[in-house]
Amino acid sequence: MAIDIKGPAELEKMLDSCIMAAACLRMAGTHVRPGVTTGYLDKLCHEYILDHGGIPAPLNYHGFPRSICTSIDDVVCHGIPDDKRALREGEIVNVDVTTILHGYHGDTSATYAVGEVLPDARLVTETARECLALGIATVSPKSRIRDIGAAIEDHAHSKDCSVVRDYCGHGIGREFHTEPQVPHYRFQGRNPRLRAGMTFTIEPMINLGTWKVDLQSDGWTVLTRDRRLSAQFEHTLLVTPDGHDVLTDPAKIAGSKWDV
Ligand code: MF3
Ligand code: CO
Ligand code: CO
Repeated sequence: MAIDIKGPAELEKMLDSCIMAAACLRMAGTHVRPGVTTGYLDKLCHEYILDHGGIPAPLNYHGFPRSICTSIDDVVCHGIPDDKRALREGEIVNVDVTTILHGYHGDTSATYAVGEVLPDARLVTETARECLALGIATVSPKSRIRDIGAAIEDHAHSKDCSVVRDYCGHGIGREFHTEPQVPHYRFQGRNPRLRAGMTFTIEPMINLGTWKVDLQSDGWTVLTRDRRLSAQFEHTLLVTPDGHDVLTDPAKIAGSKWDV
């Protein structure tokens, strides 16, 4: 299975979707505070995306019931927004936004502190943020998929954190999840070279304790097995001839049509 290479016309559409996703995430982040429900964050994002001509990709994706994922504390990923679940001071919450615009996906997430948080919560959040940045820094046509996870794993371990193995980054474009699979740890096996025009996400899930996870009976919510904290950041990337472009970089919002 070859990894798709995108041309300029496709990339223009995809970039628009990615900047929309970044703008939606930034908007949602400004609403994170104690007392706000995850269901309200979902409603804000749902309306934002529809108002701007897009489609929230998670909604009905393999039966997912809402438009974004909201993952609090020991929830690793795929938390389901809930109109009865208010955020509480001291929690951390990952908000994961995926848009479809002009037929192309944009996928980005960030972990936010709810009010003041304890040092452990800050550590896992900052480590996850740094892991994403270090993974991104490896990306160029001179590198391979494994270089990404190697950089992430080394940094996570240096902070006594672990890297989730059951969920990976992914190729993205007209499809939500496609080739290549992007592990956030050193793996054995097929290790494709990166080529200009490839688009994929990097989205490390970093845990304070064990990397092992449990799937809840709702079929979606993924928890750390030891119920300690987990944090995640995600960007959608393009491999360019001399490196990479972070398509969901919030710095791209300023001066774009999404800057409102
Ligand atoms: N946005 C998630 C990702 O980064 C996927 C969510 S799929 C859903 O790949 F169905 F859970 F929404
Ligand atoms: Co993703
Ligand atoms: Co995502």
